[in-house]
Amino acid sequence: MLRKKPHAVLGLPTGSTPIPMYKELVRLHIKEGLDFSHAIFLNLDEYIGLPKTHSQSYYYYMQQYLFTQVNAKAKNIYIPSGIAKDIEKECAKYEDKIRQVGGIDLQVVGIGTNGHIGFCEPGVSLSIATHKATLAQRTRKDNARFFKGDVSQVPTHAISMGLGTVRKAKKIILMANGQKKSQAIYKMLIEPITTHMPASALRLHNNVTILLDKAAAQKLKKAVAPNIKTNRIHINALTALTVTL
Ligand code: GLP
Repeated sequence: MLRKKPHAVLGLPTGSTPIPMYKELVRLHIKEGLDFSHAIFLNLDEYIGLPKTHSQSYYYYMQQYLFTQVNAKAKNIYIPSGIAKDIEKECAKYEDKIRQVGGIDLQVVGIGTNGHIGFCEPGVSLSIATHKATLAQRTRKDNARFFKGDVSQVPTHAISMGLGTVRKAKKIILMANGQKKSQAIYKMLIEPITTHMPASALRLHNNVTILLDKAAAQKLKKAVAPNIKTNRIHINALTALTVTL
């Protein structure tokens, strides 16, 4: 995308899943001169209450894995502030920013074990904009591993792009790996589209690619992959299964 469109607007995720993607982007920058200087970066989410300097803030993560490793320009990086005084205002400002830059060309997302996207947790509207999200208990438990296993240290709230925001992106890539994601992947693709499974909202979009490793694709492949209402399902060398919705 960046080679074709150097000014691309990229929506980026955090978590353990995208780390290899960032390593590859850094490698492409160093070895092949991939240029990030014109790209615009928008983060999917940020914990409320963590300053930029906190090692588990998503600002810190993005600096660590990408922005300090490539030639991204600080003026082109947008991450909601988790310590903004007025969180509602910060959310509205973020939506405005996305509009001002002309919308997101490519949004990359991961998925939580409960099917969340960003921090759009089960129950949230499939059209919601950037909002103050309340983290599900399961999410806080899952993410405790980043906070020395202490769930009480995991923030209770976050600013998250909404499913409506994500669905406005021109293209979406969802990445998932590991057996612990297989249930959510199965449900998001096979079961009815529902607010109980936020990721199922991506089926309302017409340009989504889902990249899965073998473990995450396990349930899907065994069960009813042929029944997915999708244009293409194919196996490629990089991933165990690619589903193009
Ligand atoms: C967090 C993030 C999500 C991410 C999810 C999965 O809760 N807010 O954007 O997709 O974790 O993380 P991991 O890739 O570490 O499993």
